[in-house]
Amino acid sequence: MHPIPLTDDVYFLGMNDRRTALFENLWPLPYGVSYNAALIVDHKVCLIDTVERAFGGELLNRLLALLGDRPVDYLVVNHVEPDHSGSIRSLLDRYPGLTLVGNKKTFPMIENFYGSLPNTRIISDGDTLELGRHRLVFQTIPMVHWPESMVSYEVTEQILFSNDAFGSFGALDGGVFDDEVDPAFWEGETLRYYANIVGKYGPHTQRALAKLNGLPLRMIVPSHGRIWRSRIPHILERYQKWSRYETDPGVVIVFGTMYGHTEEIADAIARQLAVRGIQNIRIHDASKSHLSYILADLFRFRGLIIGSCAYNNELFPTIEAVVREIEHKGIRDHLLGLFGSYSWNGGGVKNLEKFSTAIGWEQVHPPVEAKGALSKESHRDAVALANAMADRLLYNE
Ligand code: FEO
Repeated sequence: MHPIPLTDDVYFLGMNDRRTALFENLWPLPYGVSYNAALIVDHKVCLIDTVERAFGGELLNRLLALLGDRPVDYLVVNHVEPDHSGSIRSLLDRYPGLTLVGNKKTFPMIENFYGSLPNTRIISDGDTLELGRHRLVFQTIPMVHWPESMVSYEVTEQILFSNDAFGSFGALDGGVFDDEVDPAFWEGETLRYYANIVGKYGPHTQRALAKLNGLPLRMIVPSHGRIWRSRIPHILERYQKWSRYETDPGVVIVFGTMYGHTEEIADAIARQLAVRGIQNIRIHDASKSHLSYILADLFRFRGLIIGSCAYNNELFPTIEAVVREIEHKGIRDHLLGLFGSYSWNGGGVKNLEKFSTAIGWEQVHPPVEAKGALSKESHRDAVALANAMADRLLYNE
């Protein structure tokens, strides 16, 4: 993708990565991902963030095409995670006079990753970097996504370079701006990005939003995904909602099963929820759905009904991974239902009850547990659980 001028002298340098299968070697990228840098060409030349190491050569090619022999004066390091800092060394090889701009937490991390650096400038909240007609103002946004994360705001053009904040999974398939793409598709990948990368840090995201409140914004340029220009109020509202753990009426049903008995209960619960008027029901087989999609759905919907077969007197391993990650992410304010099945001693429901105690959400009904296949009795219990969840969602009863 060629550099895209955002204004007369601000360029968007987004690199599409359609080869990497797992972001952070963990999160699936079925639609790829982009690493977005930006360049301001003024009295001083300033690059905002680099890109993942494999794309460093392409970044240099684009800089040479735009600048010729003119050097880059500043590199703003909004975030040290290697998807943005990975090309620092190759950039310094080409531009040895470069000054790196970051906050007090930035440079110890960079040194740990890349060794000591020659020219650095440490900024604090509200500090400015004069480039000529353009001026950058910095704000730290700790834990959105790392302790040193920060944003850079260009005052003249009113562009916020927000790094991970407001970013999305998904390569830039032609559409670079929010009004050039299908919003429904992008919202799904923006939420999946938020839920999995930033979602643990809701209170930190709230503090970051408070810092940015009232800033005149013509564009938000995140370090992944499309640029926000027509739907800025929308993405700000979404971030407010997600970081407050506010959800819509709907139920995520997650199950782990070996022989299908636990899935039978899931289907019985889902059917009754639908009969009761719950239209948003998402069922995940934890052996098939990647955790990232389950977590994204949990940021959308208030109900979680989770089931596990017994496995060596314990949870089924895929469900164990799900509950562990829900606890780790600190997801709040959901309604919970539990179910499971066993063949002799049990272990699924028993351990789900420990999860319920640990997470502290409201459990809407006693657990449903079947010995073997779904029986008349366990079907009746599944319907009762679904009814209890529907009552809480629809009538707050
Ligand atoms: Fe896109 Fe936290 O790095």
